[in-house]
Amino acid sequence: MTGVILEGLDRDRTWSLEHYLQRGGYEALRKILTMPMTPEQVVDEVKKSVLRGRGGAGFPTGLKWTFMPKNYVGDKYVVCNSDEGEPGTFKDRDILRYNPHALIEGMIIAGYAMGATRGYNYIHGEIWEVYQRCEEAIDQARAAGFLGQNILGSKFSFDLFNHHGYGAYICGEETALLESLEGKKGQPRYKPPFPATYGLYGKPTTINNTETFACVPWIIRNGGEAFLQLGKPNNGGTKIFSVSGHVTRPGNYEVPLGTPFSTLLEMAGGMRGGRKIKAVIPGGSSMPVLPGDLMMQLDMDYDSISKAGSMLGSGAVIVMDETTCMVRALERLSLFYHEESCGQCTPCREGTGWLYRIIHRIEHGQGRQDDLDLLHSLSNNIQGRTICALGDAAAMPVRSFVTHFRDEFEYHVTHRRCQVGAVSDSQEKAA
Ligand SMILES: Cc1cc2nc3c(=O)[nH]c(=O)nc-3n(C[C@H](O)[C@H](O)[C@H](O)COP(=O)(O)O)c2cc1C
Repeated sequence: MTGVILEGLDRDRTWSLEHYLQRGGYEALRKILTMPMTPEQVVDEVKKSVLRGRGGAGFPTGLKWTFMPKNYVGDKYVVCNSDEGEPGTFKDRDILRYNPHALIEGMIIAGYAMGATRGYNYIHGEIWEVYQRCEEAIDQARAAGFLGQNILGSKFSFDLFNHHGYGAYICGEETALLESLEGKKGQPRYKPPFPATYGLYGKPTTINNTETFACVPWIIRNGGEAFLQLGKPNNGGTKIFSVSGHVTRPGNYEVPLGTPFSTLLEMAGGMRGGRKIKAVIPGGSSMPVLPGDLMMQLDMDYDSISKAGSMLGSGAVIVMDETTCMVRALERLSLFYHEESCGQCTPCREGTGWLYRIIHRIEHGQGRQDDLDLLHSLSNNIQGRTICALGDAAAMPVRSFVTHFRDEFEYHVTHRRCQVGAVSDSQEKAA
């Protein structure tokens, strides 16, 4: 398998400029500036690659780049979303930690393609050492002439800055991120207008995920078609999956899109203790959960997972074995969304708390007979009725947990205790 981002990172100091250059780093930038390729040709190559945004929605990157106005007079920006606050997702911090120059080169190329002169990398507020490493990498790139005025002797000038974020999940939502970057409270903006017309400081802005930008140098070096061929139609390239939960070797695994889930599970050492798989959240905690036996038949790409009723999202694969209490797991997730709601929209602010309190009482033996229907109707009243998708992120797991594992929820309500395994929640607490 040809890796795009994690390839060659099994050695020392892979984050240094020297190491990146040995791996072919900044050749793509040199190629577009010296051939030269026009900005339109760069965008076309990214379109051909069918690189879909790795931040969650899977939107085609090349198409997004065409939304930036071409003849705009004034500053335009590219912004990298390195906020990575979704439970289960831990790939971007490893890109920043071990391959920061791939992101930097990707952002410079994006700046060239869209006529932007400045870029910002918004890094999650709770990861300090990663921020420091990115600062060093930008300094190295600037000193080597890859950033700044007249890059590599061309007419193209571009500079890049890291911004240490606020450390809130909501700041990963792209417009909340822009507000936070401007020094304001991180709360999502109404859309439209979209960032390509009214973004950072009201200027045209394109926001992409860390992994998305980090794929770009490979695409320009090897061609969009070659990237597409790594994956499968409509799902170009490789994807880093953050595999966590009840597996033997949790970690980041980069595989071609379309790889069977069973192969990914094998790479992660299989189920811990040889236990039976019960459930998988295939794309980060905001995505619908799927039963384990269904997942064992699926391929890991955007279209296959969405056809099965979930989403590939950020590629955070949370694996749960037969000892997992699905009520308790959902209770924990719901608490997260309740705590992270920014409070701007009533359905999300009130609804996430309401969801959590109902699931909490079911888990603690005080559930009522109509609670499951109430959870469904509440989720339906949150989803699609908020300014940003945090409301959807809170509602989707609830509906899917209750739908796929209804027996367990009913058992909790009827018997006032947990059905799973020999150890019930209350016994565990008492022990
Ligand atoms: C509540 C919330 C949190 C989000 N967090 C992130 C995040 O941490 N990183 C990210 O890239 N995208 C996140 N997104 C998605 C971004 O809004 C945006 O779609 C993405 O950064 C676009 O990049 P892409 O096209 O490369 O995927 C989040 C969205 C929502 C609604």
